[in-house]
Amino acid sequence: MNRIALAIALGGALLCWTIAAPAMTEGPPLYQARVDLKNKASLQRGLRLFTNYCLSCHSAAYSRYSRVARDLGLTEDEVANNLMFATDKIGNTMTVAMRRADAEAWFGTPPPDLSVIARARGADWLYTYLLTFYEDPSRPTGVNNLVFKDTAMPHVLWELQGYQKPVYVTEKDAEGREVQRIGKLEPSTPGLLDATQYQNAVRDLVNFLVYMGEPAKMMRLEMGPWVILFLVVFWLVARQLKKEYWKDVR
Ligand code: HEC
Repeated sequence: MNRIALAIALGGALLCWTIAAPAMTEGPPLYQARVDLKNKASLQRGLRLFTNYCLSCHSAAYSRYSRVARDLGLTEDEVANNLMFATDKIGNTMTVAMRRADAEAWFGTPPPDLSVIARARGADWLYTYLLTFYEDPSRPTGVNNLVFKDTAMPHVLWELQGYQKPVYVTEKDAEGREVQRIGKLEPSTPGLLDATQYQNAVRDLVNFLVYMGEPAKMMRLEMGPWVILFLVVFWLVARQLKKEYWKDVR
C-alpha cells in the first residue's frame, strides 16, 4: 500500500514539474520550430546550410560525414564533393579548421561544438535564436539577439535574412516607472530570401541540428510501431498458451 502511495506522490510531483517547467524559463516567448525528422529533403537542405554557414566556426565533433550521408540518404560522393570543406576523408568527424585559441581571440568566447546543441537548448530556442538577430550598434558584431542577449556570434545568415531593427514599446513596470522594451523586430535591409523562405530555411537547419543531437532517434521512430505490434502479438500468443496449459491443471 505504501508503495502505491509513494508512486502516486512521485507521479504527482513529476506532473507538477513538467507543467511548471516552461513557466520557469525566462525571456521572450519562443517561436515553434515544428521540425520533422522524417523529412529527408529538409534534413538535406539543413545539412547544406550547416556546412556552408556554421562549420567555419563551430565543429560537430561527434558526427561523421559518412554516417550523416547514410542517415540522410545521400551518397558518400555527393557529400564529399559538395559539402566537405574542412577535411577530405568521408570517415572523419565534422571538425573545424579554426584553432580554438584564434577563435577565443576573435570572438572573446570560442564557438561551442554543436553536436548536441539541440538537446541542450531545444529546437524552438534554436529556431528563435536564428530568427531574432537585430541591429545593435553598441555590440562589437553590430548585432544583438532576443533570446541570447549580448551573444558573441555575428549574424552569419544576414545574406539570407537581411538585417532587422528593433521597434521599442514603452511600458510601465511594477513600480509605475516607464521602461522601454523591444516590441517586435522589423526588416531594415532585405536579404536574398523573403520572411517565409527564411523561416523555412532555418527550420531545415534546426531539423538537421535536432537529427545530429540524436541520430538514433530516426531509427527509433521507425522501429517503435513494430515493437508495439510485436508486443501485442506476443501477448496474444502467451495468453493462449497459458490458457492451454492451465486447462489440464484445473
Ligand atoms: C563567425 C563565426 C560563427 C559562425 C559562422 C557561426 N557561429 Fe554560432 N557562435 C559563434 C560564437 C563566437 C558563439 C558564442 C556566443 C557566446 O557565447 O556569446 C556562437 C554561439 C552559438 C550558439 C549558442 C550556443 C550556446 O551557448 O548555447 C548557437 C546555437 C550557434 N552559435 C549556432 C550557430 C549556427 C546554427 C550557425 C550556422 C548558421 C553558426 N552558429 C555560425 C560564432 C559563430
